[in-house]
Amino acid sequence: MSRKHQRLTLAVSLMTIITFLVAACGPQPAAQPTAPPAAEKKLEIFSWWTTGGEAAGLEKLYEIYRRQNPGVEIINATVAGGAGFQAKAVLKTRMLGNDPPDSFQVHMGHELIDTWVTTGYMEPLDDLFKSEGWDKVFPKGVLDIVSYDGHYWSVPVNIHRANVLWYNKKVFADNNLQPPTTFDEFFQVAEALKAKGITPLALGDTGIWASTHLFETVLIGTMGAEKYKGLWTGQTDWNGPEVKQALETMKKMLTYVNADHSSLSWDQANQLVIDGKAGMTIMGDWVDADNLAKGFKDSGWAPAPGNKGIYDALSDTFGLPKGAKHREQALAWLKLVGSKEGQEAFNPVKGSICARTDCNPALFGPYLQSAMQDWQRDTIVPSLAHGAAASEGWVTAINDVMTAFVTDGDVAKAQAGLAEACKTAKVCQ
Ligand code: GAL
Repeated sequence: MSRKHQRLTLAVSLMTIITFLVAACGPQPAAQPTAPPAAEKKLEIFSWWTTGGEAAGLEKLYEIYRRQNPGVEIINATVAGGAGFQAKAVLKTRMLGNDPPDSFQVHMGHELIDTWVTTGYMEPLDDLFKSEGWDKVFPKGVLDIVSYDGHYWSVPVNIHRANVLWYNKKVFADNNLQPPTTFDEFFQVAEALKAKGITPLALGDTGIWASTHLFETVLIGTMGAEKYKGLWTGQTDWNGPEVKQALETMKKMLTYVNADHSSLSWDQANQLVIDGKAGMTIMGDWVDADNLAKGFKDSGWAPAPGNKGIYDALSDTFGLPKGAKHREQALAWLKLVGSKEGQEAFNPVKGSICARTDCNPALFGPYLQSAMQDWQRDTIVPSLAHGAAASEGWVTAINDVMTAFVTDGDVAKAQAGLAEACKTAKVCQ
């Protein structure tokens, strides 16, 4: 299958899932939005970008915004917690209480469409896409995923990759180790590190999403791209042998993680790798931004075990909620978020590649240059933990299964829970 075709297939299957789940999830329909008060010179942006690299990326956008819109006061409304595990609840309260921020971070795919678009909380952005010529600079697959019902609903600022194994090059060199490409190699490396008193795999799942994130890479590495995609359309059986195998592998991996994993965040886990206390972590490429912000130069990367040739993708986007108090300023923000200047300033420090196709690769570091090439040639699959593959309700159900699984390691119970979650999401019979 050609790459174009693969992207189209991904887009089409995502849209099919979206249609399927429209009725199933998300908050109740919005009340009629009240008319926004006369515009003040303010802009409130809501996100969960608080760690070093995340905040640095956001600040780059703010710098340009201030220059382009002098006199506008930016209200940086952040709620800490990786993957928005705390921010999303706050956002929901605000949106349902008719107190939306002017624009907010939301993942492309189900998180955007099921939670906020089909429920009537967002304004379409067709005029903006037209005036900015974005239909020509975003890939067709991306345009399809931010569309619903013939309209565009949010502006993608980046593409992140979830399935990366990050390792400390010095620790690996000192111990004559190579980054593992298979699960067997992973366990050999893990044993070698353990024998030296080094934590093999750093995990920070104070927000359980980090374990779900690890698990999605194990699912991909166990069953490959097509079967993994089938999990989200009902084509792949959650009761089947590959899911069982993935849970067994995950269980074994968890025996090699730091004992305090449930009290650490993803960036604190990465700090263990930076300090050489741990050898590896499996996390999204916001780790590249964390390393940059912390001045860590000894970082190595490889696809997570079994994930070579597969790009587990997600995208941060910004939209325009109905009733935004500073609509005009919000539109100027969205224009910046989708622009070449904005994306070229933001992404090199955020650890992501541009959603646009025309960014200058020379502005990016070595990891991101390699990611740009992989994005062009790999098979793209949607991330579970970051809103692309499944509705928020379904992701929450899987997170609940993971919460129990990381402590009790009960494979049969977890598999039954996962199968049930697919049924509840009305994707499986
Ligand atoms: C993801 C988000 C990234 C990054 C990460 C960790 O969900 O898309 O931009 O911030 O969470 O917080």
